Amino acid sequence: MAAPQPGRPGLRARPARGALRLALLLLLAVPLAAGDPCPCQDAALCRPIQQRRDSEVFVFDVGQKTWKSYDWSLITTVAVFGNYDSELMCYAHSQGARVVLTGDVSLKDIIDPTFRASWIAQKVKLAKTQYMDGINLDIEQHVKCFSPEYDALTALVKEITESFHREIEGSQVTFDVVWSPNHTRRCYNYTGIAGACDFLFVMSYDVLTGVWSDCIASANSPYNKILTGYDNYIKMGIDPKKLVMGIPWYGFDFTCLNLSKDDVCTLAKIPFRGSPCNATMRQVTYKIIMKQVNSSISGNQWDKVQQSPYYNYKDPAGHFHQVWYDNPHSISLKAAYVQYRGLRGIGMWHANCLDYSEDATAKQQTEEMWKALKPEL
Ligand SMILES: *[C@@H]1O[C@H](CO)[C@@H](O)[C@H](O)[C@H]1NC(C)=O
Ligand SMILES: *[C@@H]1O[C@H](CO)[C@@H](O)[C@H](O)[C@H]1NC(C)=O
Ligand SMILES: *[C@@H]1O[C@H](CO)[C@@H](O)[C@H](O)[C@H]1NC(C)=O
Ligand SMILES: *[C@@H]1O[C@H](CO)[C@@H](O)[C@H](O)[C@H]1NC(C)=O
Ligand SMILES: *[C@@H]1O[C@H](CO)[C@@H](O)[C@H](O)[C@H]1NC(C)=O
Repeated sequence: MAAPQPGRPGLRARPARGALRLALLLLLAVPLAAGDPCPCQDAALCRPIQQRRDSEVFVFDVGQKTWKSYDWSLITTVAVFGNYDSELMCYAHSQGARVVLTGDVSLKDIIDPTFRASWIAQKVKLAKTQYMDGINLDIEQHVKCFSPEYDALTALVKEITESFHREIEGSQVTFDVVWSPNHTRRCYNYTGIAGACDFLFVMSYDVLTGVWSDCIASANSPYNKILTGYDNYIKMGIDPKKLVMGIPWYGFDFTCLNLSKDDVCTLAKIPFRGSPCNATMRQVTYKIIMKQVNSSISGNQWDKVQQSPYYNYKDPAGHFHQVWYDNPHSISLKAAYVQYRGLRGIGMWHANCLDYSEDATAKQQTEEMWKALKPEL
């Protein structure tokens, strides 16, 4: 899967490397006085969360203030992909939820143990300064088997987890992995990594089986496929309690070359970046999808094999599109699997995808999406 995979946590605006380096240098050069003022009204809220819960609801947040409308009765961890927001930290802590940094680093760089140690020290320091509760590692780089990067990555996870656990009591270190360990370009020591950190966040999305095999539009997170991913991780010896299921709150909008009567949306068969087809597809949020589905030509449809909803529409230029997504129905099936397979929990990329406006229909749809994460409640 070398073609664009936009849904994963990996894609986001990053500060220029130079700016980042400078910021890190400044952070090192000007050590913050112990007892950096707590931004919360109640200073107790700056303490890291200690409580361990049986079940995780792991939320990626990409910024703005939509978090004010999240269902905090469910959330256990927020991974901050946007700018740091101290108000979010204070509020999450008041709800007993952890707030964690995200980390990505060039694996070529961390082969050097000295660089690795200083990178880890910077992250721990940043988390402390911001009163955060850990880090989510989103390192989605290709690694060859028997390469120096293979061992360096496992060492990084081990060392960063030790540092965080030692320096911030109750802290949590997690690692994002692709939907199945059989990914040919990511030769990772999955059992080693799972053993070294608190748990893995399995990105059960961007699967798009039909796109990679037959150049037809297909589900982002097909139930039948993603389950084989968990089976494979568990077969390797990873404890189900080390796996959190990541589901998508976004879908894919495909431009069809042709749309058949039985709803097969074919894509251009032009090999492109390792994929057999140059699929014209883009990510769409659940919010946009809900605004579009009722006016589509097909209305909401259900694919029994992939257990996912989809619909077709025609754009102003006359091209047919097919949109594959996840809704409370498809998500509750996955959430039920989390329960009976005994996984650690569930989470989504990303929480900002829903419509948090005051509109009554939007409000109900948003509430149902949150509720679908824990169907037993
Ligand atoms: C994976 O990591 C573990 C823990 O560091 C180690 O014991 C094991 O030998 C590694 N496995 C491979 C295949 O390198
Ligand atoms: C995928 O990986 C698992 C665990 O290593 C293995 O048992 C299984 O045979 C693999 N499947 C394929 C299709 O390669
Ligand atoms: C496109 O779909 C229509 C309707 O199903 C079908 O009759 C036609 O043969 C298809 N065209 C191509 C080029 O596949
Ligand atoms: C692939 O699609 C993109 C965007 O539609 C287009 O710019 C590019 O030329 C296509 N590449 C090939 C090899 O057809
Ligand atoms: C779309 O249709 C459904 C089912 O008829 C309805 O419940 C919902 O309110 C409609 N959504 C919008 C945005 O109008």
